[in-house]
Amino acid sequence: MNQKINIGLFGYGVVGESLHHVLKHSKTVDAGVRKICVKQKDKKRSLEQNEFTFNKDDIINDQNINLVVELIDDADEAYDIVKRCLQNKKSVVSGNKKMLAHHLDELIDLQEKTDTALLYDASACGSIPIIRNIEEYYDNDLLKSVTGILNGSSNYILSKIFNEGLDYDTALKQAQELGFAESNPGLDVDGFDSLYKLIIIATHALGTFVKPNEVLNYGISNIKEYDIQFAREKNFKIKLVAQLIKLNDESFTMFVIPRLVRPDKYIYNVEDEYNGVVIQGEFYDKQFMFGKGAGGYPTGSAVLSDITARSHNYKYEYKKQKYFKKLEYRTDHEIEIYLRYNSMVDFSYFEFETILEKYSGIGNSYIIGKIKLANLLKLKAVLTKLDVFLAYIRN
Ligand SMILES: NC(=O)c1ccc[n+]([C@@H]2O[C@H](COP(=O)([O-])OP(=O)(O)OC[C@H]3O[C@@H](n4cnc5c(N)ncnc54)[C@H](OP(=O)(O)O)[C@@H]3O)[C@@H](O)[C@H]2O)c1
Repeated sequence: MNQKINIGLFGYGVVGESLHHVLKHSKTVDAGVRKICVKQKDKKRSLEQNEFTFNKDDIINDQNINLVVELIDDADEAYDIVKRCLQNKKSVVSGNKKMLAHHLDELIDLQEKTDTALLYDASACGSIPIIRNIEEYYDNDLLKSVTGILNGSSNYILSKIFNEGLDYDTALKQAQELGFAESNPGLDVDGFDSLYKLIIIATHALGTFVKPNEVLNYGISNIKEYDIQFAREKNFKIKLVAQLIKLNDESFTMFVIPRLVRPDKYIYNVEDEYNGVVIQGEFYDKQFMFGKGAGGYPTGSAVLSDITARSHNYKYEYKKQKYFKKLEYRTDHEIEIYLRYNSMVDFSYFEFETILEKYSGIGNSYIIGKIKLANLLKLKAVLTKLDVFLAYIRN
């Protein structure tokens, strides 16, 4: 049975304001925003001042609010808010991937103990309904891998480089001007945003939560014309890809790394700020979901979907965690990579198991070979400081 939803909204930025708009246009859900908590007192808003509060307790302690929607851009503060709301018996919808990727295990336990719900479909791929699909439809052990372009900003940059011949700096500047990339773009281009989303997806896809610092994220900020030329000559595009792979019945692996992608792959044609996710399983082979991964209205629509789900008392069951044998996260297997380097000192960091192709030039050199993921993970903190570029290869 539907219940009336009285929302306490945290954040009235890109997503919060869009959600407010989307909610007004939805006739199917009996929900209204009672109060909005924001940070800056003297900021101009599109609503009357009396709709806002600057004190989070005004929402957390309001007995009439039965759903909190958390859409702020501060992960630490979001964690405090979400935790206190759940402790206070209020269910929560959140879009905060960074906060979730760091605290999901604890928050899953907390919502169980407090008999509340925490929904976050908007956090993983904007408007693409990946979490609930994985939780509900792929609720068996057939799923073998999830491969996705999960970050719109870096995909936009790579599209401009490959389709329009822009250089990296110009493409990045354009992405920033259009509002796709942050003024500090490291979160996007160095793969952190994709990593956070992958951690959330893995928790639902295979039932194991892994801390972000235990997973490799390497992005596109070190890409050079040489790498782009290499990819073009071999008929590849480079895409920043997050991958989750079940290795066998006992274990799985995951990582975020640029990938050399051939034209016959679904993700080859995911361009600009769009996201695309390929789910592969036993018997059904591959399925592909495509859509807007960010932006106020697409993300606001995903949040609306979680609000509607709450009006039907929906909560994630975490079936894989509860009823399946826990899969172990492993990094001791080999992956095939392209490594471009300029000095032997930089090259010496990498312990290849097998070298398949090698080219030594006056400036740039490259190796294609197999290396243990654990070796790359060990280098996670220094990779962007070396004059190298890495890309995953799988034909
Ligand atoms: N933008 C997207 O396309 C997108 C897509 C998926 C998920 N998300 C996630 O959605 C969340 C919001 O993103 P956004 O793009 O809407 O951010 P934003 O435009 O920067 O807006 C952030 C909002 O949070 C408020 N805020 C910050 N700290 C606060 C605090 N301590 N207490 C109360 N309010 C606070 C700000 O208040 P003031 O207005 O007073 O500054 C502002 O209204 C983030 O977690 C983001 O990762 C965003």
